[in-house]
Amino acid sequence: MDRRVIRHGVTDSTSERAFAALAEGSASHGDVHLATAQTRGRGRLGREWSSPEGGDLYASLVLLPPPPGYDPVGLTMAVGLGVLRGLESAGGEELTLKWPNDVVDAAGAKLAGVLVESRGLQPDAPHYVAGFGVNITRTEFPAELTAERPVTSLRLLGVTADAERVLEEILSELEAALTQLIANPSALCSAFVRRAGLFNGPLEVQRGRELCRGRLLELDLEVGLTLETAEGAALTIPLEHVSALRQV
Ligand code: BTN
Repeated sequence: MDRRVIRHGVTDSTSERAFAALAEGSASHGDVHLATAQTRGRGRLGREWSSPEGGDLYASLVLLPPPPGYDPVGLTMAVGLGVLRGLESAGGEELTLKWPNDVVDAAGAKLAGVLVESRGLQPDAPHYVAGFGVNITRTEFPAELTAERPVTSLRLLGVTADAERVLEEILSELEAALTQLIANPSALCSAFVRRAGLFNGPLEVQRGRELCRGRLLELDLEVGLTLETAEGAALTIPLEHVSALRQV
C-alpha cells in the first residue's frame, strides 16, 4: 500500500479531512490523515472523541479497494486487529479487543477506538475511511469520559512510545490484517475470536432489543455468529445485527 501522510495539525476531524479529499477527488488508497488535535473528533454511535493536543494519536486511513470492496463487519474486525497488534508492537501488553473493535487493557480500560465509515457507498467504486484514536501520553481524562467507562493510555500502562512510532506500527499491522481479510477471512475471524476472548465462555449478544445467550460455536463473515444455547440449539445471528457482544 502506498502511503501518503497528510498532516493537518489541529483540525476538525481527520476522518472529515479524509472525506473532504475523497469528495474533491484528490484521495488515494493508503492516504493517512493525521492531526495533533481535533476540535470535532467523532466516536462510534454519535459520541464525541476527546482529542486534545499533547501527543495522542488521531489518524484516518483512506481505503479504495477494487470492487466489490470489503465485507463491512470483516473490515471493522480487521482494523481492530491491526490497531491491537500495532499497539502490541509498540510495547503494549495484555491488550484485548472489545466488540466491535475497542482496544482495552487487562482491566477493561479503553486504550484505543476505531470508527470505520463510508458515505454513499458505490458498489463499483468502494471507499472507506478507517479512523483510529489512541491514548498515548494522556494521564488525565474528562470526567464525562471516565464516568462512562474506565480509560487508559500507553503512558499509564508504562509504555514509552510517541505517536509517530505507534502510527507506523499500526499501519503495518493494519495492512497485514486487510490482506488477510481478502486472502483468508476465516483465519481473520479466528484471530478476532481469540483476541476478543470470545472462545472462553458463554456470551451475551445484543440483537436489536433481544438479548441472546450461548457459547460461541462459530464466527463467519457470511454465516454470522452461531451460538449454542442453554437448550443445546444452534442460534445464528447475522453479524450486522450484533450491536453488543460480551462474555458473561
Ligand atoms: C470510538 O468511539 O471508539 C471510535 C473513536 C475513533 C476516533 C478517531 S480519532 C481519528 C478519527 N477522527 C475522528 O473524528 N474519529 C476517529
